[in-house]
Amino acid sequence: MELGTEARTQAAAVGGPPSLEIARPDDWHVHLRDDEMLAAVAPITAATFRYALVMPNLVPPIATAAAAADYRQRILDVVGPPSEGREPFVPIMTAYLSPELDIGDLRRGAEAGIWRAVKYYPAGATTNSEHGGSSLPACGAVLDALCEMGLPLLVHAESTDPTIDIFDRERAFLDAELAPVADAWPELAVTVEHVSTRAGVEFVADHPQVRGSITPHHLRCDRSDLVANGLRPDLYCKPIINSADDREALVAAATSGSPDWFLGTDSAPHPTSHKYTDRAKPGIFNAPFALPVVAEVFHRAGALAHLEAFVSLNGCGHYGYPPSGEKLRLTRVAEGCGSTGEPIPDSVVTADGQQVIIFGVDEARCWRIEWL
Ligand code: NCD
Ligand code: ZN
Repeated sequence: MELGTEARTQAAAVGGPPSLEIARPDDWHVHLRDDEMLAAVAPITAATFRYALVMPNLVPPIATAAAAADYRQRILDVVGPPSEGREPFVPIMTAYLSPELDIGDLRRGAEAGIWRAVKYYPAGATTNSEHGGSSLPACGAVLDALCEMGLPLLVHAESTDPTIDIFDRERAFLDAELAPVADAWPELAVTVEHVSTRAGVEFVADHPQVRGSITPHHLRCDRSDLVANGLRPDLYCKPIINSADDREALVAAATSGSPDWFLGTDSAPHPTSHKYTDRAKPGIFNAPFALPVVAEVFHRAGALAHLEAFVSLNGCGHYGYPPSGEKLRLTRVAEGCGSTGEPIPDSVVTADGQQVIIFGVDEARCWRIEWL
């Protein structure tokens, strides 16, 4: 794949530390929440990412164009204007596909540029998915409308069949629900969100109209990290972090340079009061250090030359946006995760006193990020 000169790693140059320049990244799947949590986390996402595809799983879900327009304004209000010389942060809104979704309203919202994609949650699969669907192929009227409007479908690909093992549920959903939809609606642009398994990687490769987003935590961890050395509620998310073999397939896909793959952090903050309980809520808050985590994965894979494609170019290509004109430089500051000398926070606290643990603190110590 063709790479910009700036994207080429300068690691080899005169034996210095790995260092590269990339266009400002985008986040093609993020949960910004609302109220005090929104105020705490949205500026963090906006500090790094130019475009952010904002998930609609609020309570109640964002399912009308008016609700999406209001939510977008709340996001812009807490983020504020960009600082001197910086491009503005652009939240891109998505509609929650429920059986009650009003196709006329969907069309008007799309024509008005209020939302740019529709999100399907299997009811009960994850946080605030209760209003989702019980069968994707049964949503034919919406899928027809999406094809006609040229809006992409975003899919949380996880079966809710309780007889299927939790680690097999992505494959089960893809086989039973998304494969027939991809066959019956070949014009529909689909993103399999937060792909978590080798089966998901193969599904994307097998379907030309299907692309995949991958999270920092699915690239960095496997299920042994989740449970082998004490149960880690902070690593619990949906889809569940899967096997080492699955992680290997995800790293190979992300680092390949193929336009099929792009970053969607799935940053999903939950307060510690909802994590350290007898039933932890699924979701990992990684927005502050998503970029260093992914850089570290690419560094270890010897693939820094493809980092810019994954974090800054491929998603723009899929969703039809020009990549950012801003650049940043990433430099690995020490082998073996030495400190940059700057204090690295390990949590954020909202104005109403809720603490949220941050994923990726070790990687944040390894990478210095400078805006150019
Ligand atoms: C997300 C959340 O908390 O909103 N949780 C998660 O584990 N990823 C919902 C989702 O995207 O599944
Ligand atoms: Zn999500």
